[in-house]
Amino acid sequence: MIRLIPQPESHMISEMTRAPSTDGMVRIRIDRHLAPADESAVQDELRQAIAETPRRIPTKYFYNDHGSTLFERICELPEYYQTRTEAALLHRIADQVVRTSGARELVELGSGASTKSRILLDALDAAGHLESYVPVDVSEGIVRRVANELTAEYPNLLVHGLIADFMSDLGELPSEVSGRGHSRLVAFLGGTIGNLDPASQGVDFLRHVHDAMGPGDHLLIGVDLIKDHAIIEAAYNDSAGVTAAFNLNVLSVLNQRFEANFDIEAFQHRAIYDPENNWIEMRLISTREQRVRFGALDLDLTLNEGEELLTEISTKFDRPRLRDLLGASGFDLVDWFVQDDLFALGLATPRST
Ligand code: SAH
Ligand code: TRP
Repeated sequence: MIRLIPQPESHMISEMTRAPSTDGMVRIRIDRHLAPADESAVQDELRQAIAETPRRIPTKYFYNDHGSTLFERICELPEYYQTRTEAALLHRIADQVVRTSGARELVELGSGASTKSRILLDALDAAGHLESYVPVDVSEGIVRRVANELTAEYPNLLVHGLIADFMSDLGELPSEVSGRGHSRLVAFLGGTIGNLDPASQGVDFLRHVHDAMGPGDHLLIGVDLIKDHAIIEAAYNDSAGVTAAFNLNVLSVLNQRFEANFDIEAFQHRAIYDPENNWIEMRLISTREQRVRFGALDLDLTLNEGEELLTEISTKFDRPRLRDLLGASGFDLVDWFVQDDLFALGLATPRST
């Protein structure tokens, strides 16, 4: 049976679902941190982002159920080398990471379809330590799907999903094992760290992760490496147009979520590498002058012809860049694994002071 964790004390509202899995045992628990009281903060965040120069859209709005499906297709594109490279790397190092960490629980931030997580779960299982998996994602459908799939695939696994924003809700991070003195492996894969502005959001986020971790826990973090710009640009401008569809989908999400009326046909996808910052910028370009109404914000936005919305950055790393980012957030980078000069995984521990 699943141990009950104390209810959150913060303003977050937790809705709990306990579902029996196919064997009749309750091995799934899903907490949903919806925060109606926070709706005005959510609105302020968007209001502020679209008022910046260039105008910006927060990252999390990519991932409604359709966005998550499109992202799964991106991961399989021939140009998008990241996913298969990170998977190959995980296959190579999972046993070593599991041995070093001694973990019994895998916590995964931005877990998505949890495809690569299975490589880590298999290694934990092979070491005889697999107890629980805690997927954390804003996309509700995918967390529920993964919980069902994984409890079916791993007969003794407990899945405690958290539907939450990892930028703000990590104070609620559940653990089935840390109260019993066992350690956790926290994974943040897919180069998602690169989607947070390294100077501000990246450090903020990693400090929250740090504060949610115990002294014996380990953080495994996947980063896309700095390399030939043409290879990177091709990965975000695929010939099948899936990345364009994914980028444009963010406008449908805003239309729904904030009662906006973006005319999606009047935007074009563009991805451009910035060699000074070593990141790629995803943009949506307005192909004509247009006025967009956000009903829920009581706000009108006028866009000029050619005006760009910055929807996402994806920062590229080398070892010093990751070491410095982790260092600024209270972590020591203790191991660094590279695959094909394309993608890397860093293993970090909370600095003991
Ligand atoms: N880890 C998977 C998915 C990466 S895509 C992989 O490596 O393939 C990024 C994931 O992070 C998506 O599933 C998205 O829903 C989630 N995500 C993005 N912003 C988030 C946020 N603020 N809080 C929680 N999850 C977020
Ligand atoms: N974490 C992924 C990356 O930076 C997210 C991503 C892939 C993405 N393709 C994208 C984000 C296109 C926005 C647009 O590679």
